[in-house]
Amino acid sequence: MALRTKRSVWRLLFRSAFSLGFLWLAAITLHRLSFGSPPTHVRVFSVVDMSVLQQPQQHQYRNGYHPWNSAPEEHTYTPDGLLIVNPNGPHPIFELIRNAENEWNAKLQRASKTLEEAVVEYERRYKRPPPLGFDKWWDYVVKHDVLLPDEYDEIYYDLEPYWGLHPEDLAASERELEERDDIIVVAKTPESDKLEIVRTTVKGNPTAFLVRISDILNLLEEVEHDLPPLRMSFSPHDNPNMLSDWRIKSMVMNAAKRGTTVRQKDFPPIHTVGWAQGCQPSTPARVKRPPLPALPPHAYEPQFNTSAPKTFIASHRATMDPCAHPSLLVTHGQFLSHYAGPYPQKTLVPRFSLCATQLHHDIRPPVPYGWVSGLDLEEHGDVPWEEKIDERLDWRGSNTGLYASSNTPWSYAQRARLVSLANSVIGNVSILPVPEDENTKVGEPEEVRLARVNPAWMDVAFVGGAIMCDEKGGTCKEMEKMWEFRRSQGRKEEGRYKFILDVDGNGWSGRFKRLMTTNSLIFKATIYPEWYTSRIAPWVHYVPIQVSYTDLYDAVAFFRTHDDLAKRIASEGRAWSMRFWRKEDMSAYLYRLFLEYARVSSMDRDAMSYKGSSTVGEEDL
Ligand SMILES: *[C@@H]1O[C@H](CO)[C@@H](O)[C@H](O)[C@H]1NC(C)=O
Ligand SMILES: *[C@@H]1O[C@H](CO)[C@@H](O)[C@H](O)[C@H]1NC(C)=O
Repeated sequence: MALRTKRSVWRLLFRSAFSLGFLWLAAITLHRLSFGSPPTHVRVFSVVDMSVLQQPQQHQYRNGYHPWNSAPEEHTYTPDGLLIVNPNGPHPIFELIRNAENEWNAKLQRASKTLEEAVVEYERRYKRPPPLGFDKWWDYVVKHDVLLPDEYDEIYYDLEPYWGLHPEDLAASERELEERDDIIVVAKTPESDKLEIVRTTVKGNPTAFLVRISDILNLLEEVEHDLPPLRMSFSPHDNPNMLSDWRIKSMVMNAAKRGTTVRQKDFPPIHTVGWAQGCQPSTPARVKRPPLPALPPHAYEPQFNTSAPKTFIASHRATMDPCAHPSLLVTHGQFLSHYAGPYPQKTLVPRFSLCATQLHHDIRPPVPYGWVSGLDLEEHGDVPWEEKIDERLDWRGSNTGLYASSNTPWSYAQRARLVSLANSVIGNVSILPVPEDENTKVGEPEEVRLARVNPAWMDVAFVGGAIMCDEKGGTCKEMEKMWEFRRSQGRKEEGRYKFILDVDGNGWSGRFKRLMTTNSLIFKATIYPEWYTSRIAPWVHYVPIQVSYTDLYDAVAFFRTHDDLAKRIASEGRAWSMRFWRKEDMSAYLYRLFLEYARVSSMDRDAMSYKGSSTVGEEDL
């Protein structure tokens, strides 16, 4: 915060300087000289630190020479995670990459190295001791060389609300949950060494669903005997279901912060339906909720507001928040499939689900679905960056997102919009010019006809035929008229592309791990933060794209020009996947999540907390 203030003061100073004339400028220069090293934002532009971009020859300017004719201007960072482009600044992607690399390196460097440091860091972040068993968890982390041992904020986001609910009410909620449909109950009893599936309410033949859950539990084979007694309910389906009521969520969050709990009987009754009930009343989702799109036969027509300022993702997690970005509620199958949204839950329901949005309080385990080792890349047809000959953005998939009937707005879901947009020859997009380097103003976006860029830049298509549609009602036919369904790509074919896009389907994208493991540069648009979200860095390991796709063509344009940066992120991404998304990394996450859940769901949370360091054992007290 202090830095922001200092920056904006300096920016103000500079603006005044140029409007009032040279005298001011001279005064500022003197001021700067007398201060020795220039303030941060000046350094960004006058002695550009290009070391992270590997262009050391551009480190310094000759004696007072400055490539900008007027004051370089800064882009604006909004609290909801976006960068708003200032045409008088450099191309924002340079800056986004550099900032992200600096933050990532700082994160790696400050990581705890001992159990004691990890305990201190835990208490600093979460204002309470770690869970019982934290020392054994730490042993696992050391033994398997798990990096970033402090970065488990996703567990905090999931479990913190439950700290504010009275343990008896949480237990009652769990018992009720076990009676609902499509639940798989997992338990470890005091007598057992193992986590076991003890009950299911999944109808029909549940085998495939049970496998999904046991695949998750298998991550803990090595350590499950060390886990405390536990009882949890899992959903084996693709989507989250537990919409939070903002009033309830704020009550439990406040209680958790004060170290107390509230009782369920004190929660306000639920009268109002809708996604926005998960949001604070002052947020955009409540204040100016966008209308639901018109129902088909009105097909989605790609239409960007070419006079709106360009924005890019600065914080991927923040841009996944539908309260701050209500357009997500009308452009993604997760939300569109329930129209304006369901009723929120009347209490917190501790269901473990394969993914969740920030409006849900489902608890997210790491999901090994689609996991690959990455050791046999070439066997699967991938080739080194230099051999990738296709510079179009590649995407293939099915038309998942929501069921297409005559009364669902299916053509507005994320995949439908993508395929319509990337194959349209009608309309324009606005694209930022791509300067050679960071010392050139980016300028105003330019209007380009989709008919020109799509064939050259995009290779995006549905495969097979229409699915999740109403044969009798005619929506399958409508889809097949609207889009060309192509054959699917083999891995070898996919390996030719430099740029591959990853988007959500019915739920989270199960192919991200596989894609990240390739030598291609991965673009990703999603509304689901996942277990690794605090353990990866957008712009260092992948390119974050807004669900609106308003930045998609800009990113493609940028990386087609800056091949060195594209190659760099592609290879950092693969290295990240190999080092930070091993089975052991998922295991360490799940192990810690279960220790935390065992504590928060117990009747005596204090007794289930870790008691000090190994040097102050119970015998010493
Ligand atoms: C387009 O963007 C401009 C600038 O932000 C705004 O004033 C205008 O209302 C927008 N138009 C539409 C149709 O949303
Ligand atoms: C689309 O962009 C082209 C320039 O590429 C321009 O000539 C044309 O007027 C634009 N069309 C619209 C509808 O704005």
